[in-house]
Parts: sequence; C-alpha cells; structure tokens
Amino acid sequence: MQAAVQTLFGAPEVLQMRDVEAPVAGEGELLVRVHASPVTQGDRRLRAADFPGISWLPGRLMFGLFRPKNRTPGTMFAGRVEAIGEGVSRFAVGDDVFGSTGHSAQAELLVVSADSPVAHMPDNFDYEEAAAVPYGAVTALLLLREVGRIQAGQRVLILGAAGGVGRFAVQLAKHLGAEVTGVCSRRSFELVRDLGAAHLIDYATEDFTGNGEQYDIVFDTGDVSGFSAARGSLTSTGRYLSLHLSLRILVQMLTTSVLRGPRALIGFAFGTQEHLNEVRDLMQQGVLRPVIAARVPLGRIADAHRLLEAGQTDGAVIVTVERAKLRQAGSPARQLAAAV
Ligand SMILES: NC(=O)c1ccc[n+]([C@@H]2O[C@H](COP(=O)([O-])OP(=O)(O)OC[C@H]3O[C@@H](n4cnc5c(N)ncnc54)[C@H](OP(=O)(O)O)[C@@H]3O)[C@@H](O)[C@H]2O)c1
Repeated sequence: MQAAVQTLFGAPEVLQMRDVEAPVAGEGELLVRVHASPVTQGDRRLRAADFPGISWLPGRLMFGLFRPKNRTPGTMFAGRVEAIGEGVSRFAVGDDVFGSTGHSAQAELLVVSADSPVAHMPDNFDYEEAAAVPYGAVTALLLLREVGRIQAGQRVLILGAAGGVGRFAVQLAKHLGAEVTGVCSRRSFELVRDLGAAHLIDYATEDFTGNGEQYDIVFDTGDVSGFSAARGSLTSTGRYLSLHLSLRILVQMLTTSVLRGPRALIGFAFGTQEHLNEVRDLMQQGVLRPVIAARVPLGRIADAHRLLEAGQTDGAVIVTVERAKLRQAGSPARQLAAAV
C-alpha cells in the first residue's frame, strides 16, 4: 500500500510517499481503508518534534529521541472496515468508521484496536467531514466538561475560537448552555458567530483582559494569554484551561489548588471510545459540525502541512486518501492552489 513516511523530524519536506507493507488486523483489531485524515497542529508538532519547554524530554521519549519512532503520521481518520480480527463483534466488514489513533492514519490502510477511540460514522457525515471532528471535539469535550466543569448559564471565553480546538469549544460550550465569547481575528468573526459565539473580540485590536468582563471559564486553546494575564478576568471560582504543558502552568496549578480564587488547570486530549461515541451522538444530532478549509490528496501531504503552517485557514486541512495515487503534474504551488 502507499503511505506517508518520515524518517527524520523536520520541515514538511521530510514527508514522502512510499510503498510499504500493508498491515493486517490481529485479534481484537480492525483493518480500515482510510478515506480521509486531517493534518492537525498535533501532526505538525509530531512531524517537527516541536515539543516546547518541559515537554521536550517526554515528547522525545514518547515519539523518538533522534528519529520518529512511528514513521507514518496521521492521528485521526475516517474510512471503511476492510477486515476484522478474531473477537471483534461491535464492528463488521463494510462499516464506515472514524476516530483517533496514535499514528499511521495517513496511509491507505490502518489497523486500530476495536476498543480504541473508533466509532461508527454518523449517517449525515461523509468521510472528510467525519475525519475533521475528533481532534477538536474530543479535546474541547474533555477540557470544558471534565477539566472546566462547565455549567449552563456560565460565561465562557474561548481564545483561538476559530482554531482547530476553538471551533469545537465554541459549539460545545454553546450547546452546554454557556454564553460564549470568542476571541479570534476579525476575518473569522462570521464563522465564530455562526458556530455559536454571542460576543466576539478581535485579538489584534482588543485585549480581553482590559474589557472589565468576568468569565467563569477562560479556555486558552493556543496558549496565547497565560493564567497570570487571564486571572483578573475570571470570577472568584473561575477556571483557566490550558492545553500546554509548562513549568509555569504546573506551579500555577499547584498554588491555585490550595489558595482561594480562580484556578489554573491543564488538560490533555486522551479521549476514549466512550468520549468519541458521545461526540458521534452530538454530530448525529447536528450539534457539532466541522469546517473544512482544504482537501489535499495524500500524495501531496507535504503541501497539506505547508498549508496548515501558513495559517489563515479557518477550517481543517483534510488529506484525502483514496486519491493517494493520483500524482498531478505541475508545480507544488499550482497543485496546492488546485487543492484548496
Ligand atoms: N494538550 C492536548 O492534548 C492538545 C490537544 C489538541 C491541541 N493541542 C494544542 O493546542 C494548540 C491549539 O491547537 P489548534 O489546532 O486549535 O491550533 P490552530 O488551529 O492553529 O488555532 C489557533 C488559533 O489561535 C488563534 N490566535 C492566534 N493568536 C491569538 C491571540 N492572541 N488571541 C486569540 N486567538 C489567537 C489563531 O488565529 P489566526 O489564524 O487569526 O492567527 C488560530 O485560529 C496547539 O498548540 C496544539 O498543539 C493540545
């Protein structure tokens, strides 16, 4: 089969297409023919070994000290079950499924455990739409509900509201009954309003910390504020939520857990199959919807990473896998333009 392969950490150029041995489903596993897989900020970090601060050592130990431990990238997928291993009863050959995995989704075939975060695709989604959901939706669900303990009626501020996590945080917070303020670029106002934000702040021209408003939750998806700056905008029982491991946030978590006042908290997107099933139900109900900015064939995966890195993409960059073998002629720039 064809797969994206990287043997080095680095710029998008480290990603190449190769013919590799097709995987086989073992006991309790599914073989999935992948149709779509998003390129996320998480994928970018893994490709470049971009593990800032104190996450450097755990990142390198988990993902490869000098070279990538897992040569095929891709942590989210949607596709069709092609084979099942012994003991699998919840899934059958021909089922359309989507979910998340540690690596290897940017290939024609992928093996995942039937107990991992994999679920049947909702009927109202195609592969590309379904693949675009788990990264942001599971992260937002875990952070807002399990770390932030969001309640109906609360005032919630989402920093990076048009981003991969923020787009789902806005939708979920609104669904859970919060009054949402989205902080994003002015160009993203219409999108973020459409996703459910009642109030909008353009981060280029307005600083939310100076507007006199108080929030129950500040979800800093992009680590753009920090707890110290956000503290004055939180209620006395408010929660600042971060996705970024640093010594600073660890100290702040410790001190705010024993002192009175707003708390600083960090969370990670270690979602389970139950979380994904919950997200699936919300997709089926029309509560969660993806925004897709671009579709790029797997054969041009490096271009998909370049597009993500260029920013300005208010929506997911989706790698479409069934078109992996269709190498198109022309310059990379023209190919990229054609894909968008
Ligand atoms: N810990 C975990 O388990 C976990 C899980 C998922 C993601 N993450 C991390 O979370 C981060 C965010 O991921 P993502 O996929 O949401 O990234 P993303 O798609 O790049 O979104 C970041 C957003 O932040 C906006 N932004 C930039 N500066 C801002 C500012 N000063 N104020 C408010 N918004 C600002 C950007 O807007 P513009 O486009 O206008 O610049 C962009 O929309 C990444 O670092 C990722 O690695 C961690």
